[in-house]
Amino acid sequence: MPNTVIVGAQWGDEGKGKVIDIYAKKADIVVRYQGGNNAGHTVVIGKDSFVLHLIPSGILHRGKVCVIGNGVVVDPKALLEEIATLESKGIKIGKRLLVSRDAHVIFPYHRKLDELREAKKKKIGTTKKGIGPCYADKVARLGIRFVDLLNEKVFKDKLNENLEEKNPVFSRIYNVKGYSFDELYEEYSGYAGRIKKYICDTTVFLNESISKRKSVLFEGAQGTLLDVDHGTYPFVTSSNSTSGGASTGTGVGPNKIDKVIGVVKAYTTRVGEGPFPTEFSDDLMERIRTKGKEFGATTGRPRRCGWFDSIVVKHSVMVNGIDEIVVTKLDVLDDLDRLKICTAYKYDGCVYKDFPSDIEVLSNCEPVYEELPGWNRDTTGITSYSRLPKSAKNYLKRIQKLLSVKIALISVGSERKQTFSNE
Ligand code: GDP
Ligand code: IMO
Ligand code: MG
Repeated sequence: MPNTVIVGAQWGDEGKGKVIDIYAKKADIVVRYQGGNNAGHTVVIGKDSFVLHLIPSGILHRGKVCVIGNGVVVDPKALLEEIATLESKGIKIGKRLLVSRDAHVIFPYHRKLDELREAKKKKIGTTKKGIGPCYADKVARLGIRFVDLLNEKVFKDKLNENLEEKNPVFSRIYNVKGYSFDELYEEYSGYAGRIKKYICDTTVFLNESISKRKSVLFEGAQGTLLDVDHGTYPFVTSSNSTSGGASTGTGVGPNKIDKVIGVVKAYTTRVGEGPFPTEFSDDLMERIRTKGKEFGATTGRPRRCGWFDSIVVKHSVMVNGIDEIVVTKLDVLDDLDRLKICTAYKYDGCVYKDFPSDIEVLSNCEPVYEELPGWNRDTTGITSYSRLPKSAKNYLKRIQKLLSVKIALISVGSERKQTFSNE
């Protein structure tokens, strides 16, 4: 299989876990390149449902090597818990998990800062996992990587430096207690001891593997519209969830990546705050949320739902260089009489056919819709494109035309077998 990046083309939760699980079968290595345990990737195998937060979804396939790349921010406590949960479900991890020595480590002060900022009126609606504060430290060159954690002297110095700066912020700005050096040092030295066996130079591992013609699947987390550069800033996550992040977040050059696949939900969802031009009104919101089981896999929060937005996905196709898409959750639209697709935004006398980054425009624009007939038929048992109702085919054809990109696979349920190609 060519080295492939799989990215979310909307606001996350597109069904990447399911799609990665399908493609992982043909790959040798699966690597996460950004984000952290803010992600929740669901893979359903028969009666078992797994939600992966940090460990690549390929771990469920025996024999696949899974890598947490340098671009990921890792909460060691969450990682150890995830390993334990998987092992308790009979998944053997052994030497199949590698963690980059250069990945930055999330500390309790990151989680606390995230939580305190979210308590303010102007919140982002984060997962409160400490992702943003950890990436902020990375960019401010204050961050602590696994390689630092494993070096007693360096770890002590860096932890001291961090607490000297952070504790006064907690006490003076937020009026809460700061953190004790000794407690954090002990807790994190303990994690380091337990995680050490997974830590290595994953950049060398990945590049050597590619030289030996092994194939790598890059597992994107979040979605394009949550990308810190290309998303609905500031209502985004703090990493590059787009395909470019696959290179910086692993140390694999872009010329070694052969293909980019975008995962696209047949409608749109988002969790947390921020603009969402095609958001449903209350009645439809409830119907689709219930049918699509649209509740966060990480936080359990109800997801906001809306019509398919071709402006958003066209933007994703461009900024990721998407070669083909996988359309998921088509079945969730089964009961609707009519469907809408957004093809433009109108704001203040202007018509936008390209994604506007002005938050004012995004928050107040009026979507321009095209209407299509629904199919009013259960599609969950369908196993080939030819058996789809005509209106469902037309809906997919219209999406394909608007995006000028090929649909590779269609998904009509959470199970592996509820997937077929567009032929
Ligand atoms: P991810 O973060 O992109 O991996 O997506 P999540 O796992 O957060 O959310 C997607 C949800 O939709 C999961 O519960 C999946 O099991 C489920 N799912 C995936 N594909 C389909 C589909 O085609 N139809 C339905 N009904 N559910 C799906
Ligand atoms: P997966 O990989 C959906 C959203 C949060 C919030 C914003 C910032 O499962 O698709 P953060 O905690 O990252 O600082 O929160 O990003 N968010 C996600 N939304 N799916 C995700 O991941 C998300 N990860 C973060 O809800 O709006
Ligand atoms: Mg998710």
